[in-house]
Amino acid sequence: MSRGLAHLADRTAVVTGAGHGIGRALAVRLAAEGMRVAVNDVDAAAAAEVAALVGGPAIAVDLGTPEGPGELVERAWAALGGIDVFCGNAGIGGGGGAEVGDDVWTRVLDVNLLAHVRAARSLVPRWIERGGGHYVVTASAAGLLTMIGNAPYSVSKHAAVAFAEWLDIEYGERGVTAQAVCPQGVDTAMLRASGPVEALLSKDTAIAPEQVVEQVVTDLRAGRFLTLPHPEVAGYYRARAADTDDWLRGMRRLHAATFG
Ligand SMILES: NC(=O)c1ccc[n+]([C@@H]2O[C@H](COP(=O)([O-])OP(=O)(O)OC[C@H]3O[C@@H](n4cnc5c(N)ncnc54)[C@H](O)[C@@H]3O)[C@@H](O)[C@H]2O)c1
Repeated sequence: MSRGLAHLADRTAVVTGAGHGIGRALAVRLAAEGMRVAVNDVDAAAAAEVAALVGGPAIAVDLGTPEGPGELVERAWAALGGIDVFCGNAGIGGGGGAEVGDDVWTRVLDVNLLAHVRAARSLVPRWIERGGGHYVVTASAAGLLTMIGNAPYSVSKHAAVAFAEWLDIEYGERGVTAQAVCPQGVDTAMLRASGPVEALLSKDTAIAPEQVVEQVVTDLRAGRFLTLPHPEVAGYYRARAADTDDWLRGMRRLHAATFG
């Protein structure tokens, strides 16, 4: 399988967290491209509704459990007769810092990071056997930069990007490719629940889920690793690498302006 998927029609996809928001838009768009799409969400009613919309199976498992991602891969593989594209999109917000309990940290890391590891554990051997597959991670600009006021989210999203990079390097020669989607504010329930940061992320820059998906599909076709639906993130990412202390100074000013 080549890096890019120029032709999506008649291929198969799984979208996790597809009951709402970006995942729902992804499922609808991939189906409109002619793909057969399995719809996952922990919210069974939402998964069933989107599955009916796209004409694919609904698989309502909780990806934040040790067995959930493997079960999803198993059931979707059987229902679709293979998986060409796995969109690991489900994510949760977290909030706070070192003071929040291990229960919060563990749940965020389970859903935002370990779900990808556990899904890949099941997918990669199958993909190597059949010549390849694409793993698309909906990470976040917080995975390249940070999300002020939210350590579990920032740490889990950095880790998700790191895992996607690692997958792409480790298995690229054997046809397994990865793509990391790193938007800033997207107009979904998650953004609306993000507290003081909502105003910051919404101001002039919040985009619709469909705009994220447009860039995901363009980059999926091109075989590009990093998907930046907000182009300005590329500049912030370069600035952070070029002068990390200067970037941190700017972020501390932003923190003070947001939280007082
Ligand atoms: N909204 C933003 O501003 C924004 C920005 C950058 C990245 N993201 C990322 O985009 C992804 C989608 O978020 P969204 O904004 O569409 O949020 P959303 O809350 O609208 O949708 C998330 C979906 O994931 C599902 N989900 C949550 N936990 C799950 C679990 N354990 N198992 C299965 N499904 C689960 C939810 O039920 C929901 O349908 C997330 O990974 C999020 O971190 C969002």
